[in-house]
Amino acid sequence: MNLYNFLSILLIQFVILLPKIYVECRNPVEVDSHYSKVHEFINDKKSQGTRWAVLIAGSNGYMNYRHQADVCHAYQILKKGGIKDENIVVMMYDDIANNRENPKSGTIINNPHGEDVYHGVPKDYIGRDVNVGNFLNVLLGNRSALTGHGSGKVVSSGPNDTIFVYYSDHGGPGVLSMPMSKPLYADELNDALQKKHRLRTYKSMLIYVEACEAGSMFEGLLKPGMNIYATTASNATENSYAFYCPGEEPNLPPGYNTCLGDLYSINWMEHSEKYNMMTETLDKQYAVVRRRTMTKGSILGSNVIKYGDLKQLGSQSMYTYIGTNPGNGDNSSLKTDLESFATPSHYIDQRDTDLAYYQQQYQYAPMGSEKKTKAWQRCQNALQQRSYVDDSMDLIGKFLYGSNEMATNVMKALRPAGQSLVDDWSCYKTMVETYEKNCGPFSRHGLKHMRSLANMCNAGVKPENLAKASDYACSTLRKRPL
Ligand SMILES: *[C@@H]1O[C@H](CO)[C@@H](O)[C@H](O)[C@H]1NC(C)=O
Ligand SMILES: *[C@@H]1O[C@H](CO)[C@@H](O)[C@H](O)[C@H]1NC(C)=O
Ligand SMILES: *[C@@H]1O[C@H](CO)[C@@H](O)[C@H](O)[C@H]1NC(C)=O
Ligand SMILES: *[C@@H]1O[C@H](CO)[C@@H](O)[C@H](O)[C@H]1NC(C)=O
Repeated sequence: MNLYNFLSILLIQFVILLPKIYVECRNPVEVDSHYSKVHEFINDKKSQGTRWAVLIAGSNGYMNYRHQADVCHAYQILKKGGIKDENIVVMMYDDIANNRENPKSGTIINNPHGEDVYHGVPKDYIGRDVNVGNFLNVLLGNRSALTGHGSGKVVSSGPNDTIFVYYSDHGGPGVLSMPMSKPLYADELNDALQKKHRLRTYKSMLIYVEACEAGSMFEGLLKPGMNIYATTASNATENSYAFYCPGEEPNLPPGYNTCLGDLYSINWMEHSEKYNMMTETLDKQYAVVRRRTMTKGSILGSNVIKYGDLKQLGSQSMYTYIGTNPGNGDNSSLKTDLESFATPSHYIDQRDTDLAYYQQQYQYAPMGSEKKTKAWQRCQNALQQRSYVDDSMDLIGKFLYGSNEMATNVMKALRPAGQSLVDDWSCYKTMVETYEKNCGPFSRHGLKHMRSLANMCNAGVKPENLAKASDYACSTLRKRPL
C-alpha cells in the first residue's frame, strides 16, 4: 500500500472518528447569579499572612504543550500580582521550551499573541521529580522528605497564610495524571488536605483543577469546615477542553501544531490579568469562568463546578490568593466582561488532542517525507490503542456478567452528584493495577474506562475476578489479527 492509500484511510478514519468523539452535548446549567458582597480589601490586608502557591503541570510531551504553558502563565500572573518566588513552587516536566518541535526555542506561549511565559519560571521540580509523593510533601511543607529532590522548596506556611493550588493536566475518574509515574488519586489528595488542616498551617486555600472529570477529585470527598474553596474545569463525569488549538480561530502563529492552552485555565487567567483582583471575588471569578467554559449551543464546553466552604470564602477577594497586577483595569462588571469574550467555532476535547496533533503533523509534513509516514503511523497506533482498550473492557464485561446489558448496567453507571466515585479506594487502585498488569496502560483515551473498575468495586467485584477477566480479555485481543 502506498502513502495515498494510507492517506485515504486516515482521512476516512478522521471523518468517522472525530464527530463520534465530540461527546453528548447538553444545555448549559443556569449560572449562579448571586454574588456575595465584595469584601473590603483593607480587612483582608490586615489579617493577611503570606500568600503561597503550588503550580503543577501533570503531563509531559510536546502534544501536551498546553499544560506546562498554562502553569508558566499562572506563574507570570502571580509574579505580577506581587507574590514572591520564594512562595511559589512550580512543578513541571520542562520538556517544552527546548523541544525540537518548538518553533520558538526557549519560549512557551499560552495564547496566539505569543508573549513568552517561560522566562523567569522557577524550576523547582522538573522531570521525574514531578510525582505524587513530591507534590503532597510540597503541599504539606515536609521539607525533610524533599531533601535531594529539585529545589527542595515547600509550602512552609503558617496559620495566617493563604495557599493557591493550580493543577493543569489530563485526568480520569478520581485521578490526576503525573508525567512518568502513578497518578494522584482523589483520596490521597483529600487525605493530604485534611492533614494540612489538622496541622493548622494555613488560613484558607483556593484550589483550581484543569482536567477531564476533575470534579471527581472532590465530589463527595472534600470535607466542609476546612476553609477550602475549589473549582474544577469539568464535573465528575465529563471531559474538559483544550483551547487555542491549531486549525481553530483565532489562528496560532506559524509553526505551532499543538494546542497552546486549556479552556477553563485560559478563562481564569485571562480574567485574572485583566481586572483588579482586589475587587473580584472568588464567586465572581467562578461565575465568569463557568459562563465562559460551558457548552453554548453546538459548541461543547464543560461544567465548571465549585466545592468546599463556598459560603464562608466566596466573597473573599481573588487578591487574597493571587495578588493583583497594579496595571490591571479597574473593577469589572460581569455583563460587560461576558460581552467582550469572543467564542471560537469549537473546542477540542482534551482526550482528542493527541489525534489533532498527529493530524497537524501529518498535514504539514512534506509529501513522501519520513515525518509524514511517522505521523501517520503514530496516529494509527493511537487509534489501535483506543480500540484495544475499548474492546478489552467489552470483553471483560462479557466475561464477568455474561450479557452485555448486565455489564453495561454496572460498568457505565454514574453516581449522583454529592457521592464519591468509589467507596473503597484501595479496591479501586488494586483494580487499576490488575487491569494494567494484564492489558497494559490505560493511556489518555482509556482513562475514562477506569470508572468501570470503580463501579465494579462498588458492586462487590473482587480484584481476583478482574484478574481472570482481564487476563482472558487481553490475551484474546493479542491473538486477534490486526
Ligand atoms: C515527611 O515525610 C517523611 C518521609 O516521607 C515521613 O516519614 C514523615 O512522616 C513526613 N512528615 C510529615 C509531617 O508529614
Ligand atoms: C496571626 O495573626 C494573628 C492576628 O492578626 C496574630 O496575633 C498572630 O501572631 C499571627 N500568627 C502568626 C504565626 O503570624
Ligand atoms: C471599584 O473599586 C473601587 C476600589 O478599588 C471602589 O471604590 C469603587 O466603588 C468600585 N466601583 C464599582 C463600580 O464597583
Ligand atoms: C456533568 O456533565 C455532563 C456533560 O455535560 C452532564 O451530562 C451531566 O449531567 C453532568 N453531571 C452533573 C452531576 O452535573
